[in-house]
Amino acid sequence: MSRLVVVSNRVAAPNPGKAAANGGGLAVAMQEALSTTGGLWFGWSGHASDSPQSEPHIAEHAGVTYAQLDLSATDYDEYYNGYANSTLWPLFHYRLDLAAFRQRTYAGYHRVNALFAHKLAQLLRPDDVIWVHDYHLIPIAEELRQMGYTNRIGFFLHTPFPVPEVLGALPNLKLLMRSFCAYDLIGFQTESDNAALRRYLTDWAGGHVLEDGRIEAFGRTVETQVFPISIDVAGMSTLAAQIAKTPTLRRFVRSLNERQLVLGVDRLDYSKGMPQRFEAFGKLLENYPDMNNRVTMMQIAPPSRENVPEYQAIRAELEQIAGHINGQHAEFDWQPLRYINKGYGRRTLAGFYRIARIGLVTPLRDGMNLVAKEFVAAQDPEDPGVLVLSQFAGAASELGGGALLVNPYDIEDSAENLRRGLSMPLDERKERWQTMWAVLEANTIEHWRKAYLKALHATAG
Ligand code: UDP
Ligand code: G6P
Repeated sequence: MSRLVVVSNRVAAPNPGKAAANGGGLAVAMQEALSTTGGLWFGWSGHASDSPQSEPHIAEHAGVTYAQLDLSATDYDEYYNGYANSTLWPLFHYRLDLAAFRQRTYAGYHRVNALFAHKLAQLLRPDDVIWVHDYHLIPIAEELRQMGYTNRIGFFLHTPFPVPEVLGALPNLKLLMRSFCAYDLIGFQTESDNAALRRYLTDWAGGHVLEDGRIEAFGRTVETQVFPISIDVAGMSTLAAQIAKTPTLRRFVRSLNERQLVLGVDRLDYSKGMPQRFEAFGKLLENYPDMNNRVTMMQIAPPSRENVPEYQAIRAELEQIAGHINGQHAEFDWQPLRYINKGYGRRTLAGFYRIARIGLVTPLRDGMNLVAKEFVAAQDPEDPGVLVLSQFAGAASELGGGALLVNPYDIEDSAENLRRGLSMPLDERKERWQTMWAVLEANTIEHWRKAYLKALHATAG
């Protein structure tokens, strides 16, 4: 059987016990996927310095070889903070107002992609199947092809993919999209992401659809399909049931003093809609005085990409709004909003999910949002909580049948849905939860991995 080689900028820590608690969905999902198949995971070490080690650090753990490269301080600045997180991330999340277009970071992005391709090539075997993840490394397949590699190479985008009218703002777009077409298969989270690329390739780049559904563009042929990512559903469910009984979780429940819990869990990122979410909670307390002292919101928000100015700005904004809400509504024995700039491990999170009455997942735009799925999987089937979910999260296309869907920009409507969730009768909560649980059971992380790799193997190559 051929070896699976996963390539992503962010690589989970080889020892899961030491995993960073703000690594994001990609690392969580791939850790789970690779734990079954074994293979090689190649990417960034998370370290940047003026004198980076030039060869990857290699570590083995539970059948997976981790090969992680350091970045130079300049590459970290231009490739990671710059083009990846100040150009492509905001662009892909429809935030043209935040996207910076700079020649210097564009050059850094291509320089690091070429470097990664050369370092990866030294580790490759002829029959390896290569699976590249996310926007940091789009050009790496083209680099490998130019070096003569003919292995199957697939790509999966964890973020949204914008419509051509937004994408079109990117300078040098054609070159980036041409490099996209060096993959055999591109996977997306939702139909709309997939449709956006296909429309770009056919209507804007002069490509056309072949009889088998593949697209021919830029002189290459590429397959594109939808594979909504998922989680270890049974694992999360079991963990949550166990953890809810531990002393730490009991202490947490006592601290709530019988108040209902509204829970948010997000990297501190402007795409997550946290300011609007805080405002919606404030509006709930304002519109419904009977809710005061009867509900507590807890927002877990581990800092992320702290050297990017927009992330410093969102942090300052959230501190201000949280202070305002607490100042306005707190009582001597009640802090309405617990705002925590720290990440928690999977075990503790599982317990928090289980205890929460509302999972408040309201991104302004999100590829999938694993927190939404984790929240559903962690519920007690006999007394489940309610998922309040943004219509702009990829997860809405799967969980929309059971969640309370909201427009996160509409503060009044979000407050109304919070109210509805907090007073929802048990029968309705159960019914909604069962609808979502059935969806999760039918598409676990294992289904996702198998479906993607099957499609990649089936490509004409
Ligand atoms: N996460 C975590 N600890 C935290 C916050 C988040 O382990 O304190 C995990 C969370 O459980 C989920 C992932 O980080 O698995 C976040 O993935 P999601 O798709 O929701 O968002 P992303 O951060 O990838 O944008
Ligand atoms: C999102 C992205 C991932 C990224 C993660 C954490 O999930 O899709 O590619 O790894 O956020 O962000 P970071 O910049 O810390 O890797």
